Amino acid sequence: MALPIVDLRSDTVTQPTPAMRAAMADAVVGDDGYHEDPTVAALEERFASMVGKEAAIFVPSGTMANQIAMRCLTSPGDLVLAGARQHIVLYELGASAANAAVQIHCLDDTDGVLDPSEITTVREGEAHVLPRVTALFLENSHMASGGRASTVAELGGVLAAADGLRIHLDGARLFNAQVATGLPAAELAAPAETVMACLSKGLCCPVGSLLAGPAELMERGRLHRKRLGGAMRQAGILAAAGLVALDEMVDRLAEDHRRAGLLRTAAAERWPDQAPSVLLPDTNMVVFAHPDAGRLLAHLAEGGVLGDTLAPGVVRLVTHHGVDDAGAERAAAAIASAP
Ligand SMILES: Cc1ncc(COP(=O)(O)O)c(C=O)c1O
Repeated sequence: MALPIVDLRSDTVTQPTPAMRAAMADAVVGDDGYHEDPTVAALEERFASMVGKEAAIFVPSGTMANQIAMRCLTSPGDLVLAGARQHIVLYELGASAANAAVQIHCLDDTDGVLDPSEITTVREGEAHVLPRVTALFLENSHMASGGRASTVAELGGVLAAADGLRIHLDGARLFNAQVATGLPAAELAAPAETVMACLSKGLCCPVGSLLAGPAELMERGRLHRKRLGGAMRQAGILAAAGLVALDEMVDRLAEDHRRAGLLRTAAAERWPDQAPSVLLPDTNMVVFAHPDAGRLLAHLAEGGVLGDTLAPGVVRLVTHHGVDDAGAERAAAAIASAP
């Protein structure tokens, strides 16, 4: 019998669990356009309290959550600071320009860390006719660096340099960061005015993300959600899965991180020159450069292991609920024999 595919392309390939499907079937729903869906309301309240904010809104995707935050925190023509490889910069197809008419100034985010002096330099430019800097968008965990999770203490210099700016945290994988750092999501999100997290990645929901922040701002966020076409009706069917995710799927992310560690070690042994960057991060991703990424991915696929590239010559392998110990070991063995 053929061995099952080990799909390490992304944690977005996860399937809803049986408990989620049961909760979805039984969900009490109403028209959320009239604020009459109790399951959506329960999910929004639960998330807001987990991230230490007043209110939250349930949205179809992480991209929409980031875009609503951008509209809430900025005005057209503003300069927004963000790491050069963050999702909001590279993977939202220019949405911040199209939706919020802002200009993003990209900061170096090699290894997932920002340099406070770069922030200070850009802000000093305001005195020399550069556009007004109003906001800083952060990402934790930082996907492109291989899922690096940062503590608030590590961000100290960045936050000091960003004093007075409005801050949004793209926490698509905030709960991975919580598990990796041992710090509650609320503490990781504390410096940010708004924070988003995705339910549809390592937490296994079929659809959905949440954006949280001050109540008055989230009311404005609801208007932007409607303008972007993201207002939903009996969305409690989806929110029910979200409640299961927040209850049952957060702590188990540690298993994904442990399995990513196996792959990281295998990659570091196979390509010792890559070791420092491969070994750094501590969540569910392994990201490394390879001179012939296409050939490497083809070799892995021959062994039933799927990976992907983030950029030309940059390979990404992601562990998640659908990858067990046997799958991680097969992937590690395929890496060990890779070209
Ligand atoms: C860091 C980060 N932010 C935002 C998103 C956007 O989420 P979605 O695919 O739900 O739009 C992703 C998706 O992969 C992501 O990795």
